[in-house]
Amino acid sequence: MIKTLFLVIFLLICPAFGEVRSTMFTPIVKMPKYDKEKALLGKALFSDIRLSTDKKTSCEMCHNIVQNKSLTSNNMYPNPPTLLNAYYNFLYSFDGSQRDLKIKIEDSFLNPTELGSSKKLIIERIEKNPNYKFKFNHLYGEVTFENVVDSVYEFIKALVTPLSKFDMYLDGNETALNSDEKKGFDLFIQYGCSNCHNGINIGGNIISRFLSTDKYHKILIKVPTLRNIAITTPYFHDGSKSSLYNVIQFADKILVRKHMSNEEYEYLHKFFLSLTGQTPEILYE
Ligand code: HEC
Ligand code: HEC
Repeated sequence: MIKTLFLVIFLLICPAFGEVRSTMFTPIVKMPKYDKEKALLGKALFSDIRLSTDKKTSCEMCHNIVQNKSLTSNNMYPNPPTLLNAYYNFLYSFDGSQRDLKIKIEDSFLNPTELGSSKKLIIERIEKNPNYKFKFNHLYGEVTFENVVDSVYEFIKALVTPLSKFDMYLDGNETALNSDEKKGFDLFIQYGCSNCHNGINIGGNIISRFLSTDKYHKILIKVPTLRNIAITTPYFHDGSKSSLYNVIQFADKILVRKHMSNEEYEYLHKFFLSLTGQTPEILYE
């Protein structure tokens, strides 16, 4: 009798568990449609120091394309979030206060902690450059701040990284993850990591109360994406963790308190390596 009851419960839970997985995460199997010419223009502006007041800073200096293709930087405080897949975040900025990517891009141009430029200066400097002027006329009809923001928006759209092993697995290819990676994924769900890191970006969609690593006080902070986590070192908004091992240790001790074994750390680590997607083509152009 009891055995039958267990079996019934097991059968009820099993499909539900599968269901939770497929609704909790969404695979990215292809690029979103973007306008390539506009995206290439946006890419050029993204790397152009002439758009800053002192002609010394560009977006690229903090969200690296050249030094590494992680779209974050290895030596900045605060630690710039990666822009890979930022297109699919639901919330923007560390405190998650921004919901609209275009408005966040506007803010990044003007905000003193990022590019700290002005609309007037940006338009003047673009107007002075015949190459840019030609491109804006051709693609948009005129140079306006709105069009500048739109071209960078198209560039950020082109920074989606589809087809990680995890995406292929979610998309139905059972063998895309090996057994260690699958064990890591199971732990990720069982230990509640997925309560905060979920959705299409495995993060990027909620704000969480979090213990700051420096003073251990509680702060409200956006849960970051874990896509490409193996290449976006260092970690946390303050860059205080340099290795994934340190982060897993911290998440275990402070957030989920499961006293994980080294073997479990290893499985989670392997699962994280499976979250690296294809490098966006636009970075090679
Ligand atoms: C001095 C370094 C620096 C520069 C320059 C810079 N950023 Fe940022 N960027 C950051 C930091 C730090 C954050 C996170 C801060 C925040 O928004 O709370 C950020 C956040 C962002 C975000 C939000 C990402 C997310 O998922 O929350 C976008 C988009 C962005 N920047 C785009 C740009 C663009 C476009 C430029 C150039 C116009 C630029 N940034 C210039 C450091 C920089
Ligand atoms: C209560 C919500 C919550 C839970 C549960 C949670 N995280 Fe996080 N995680 C966060 C927040 C918020 C940050 C960003 C902290 C910061 O920037 O200072 C983060 C950051 C991370 C990062 C670094 C991301 C980056 O780019 O900096 C990794 C890796 C990570 N978590 C893994 C895990 C693992 C593994 C678990 C389960 C053992 C877990 N998290 C459980 C909220 C959570």
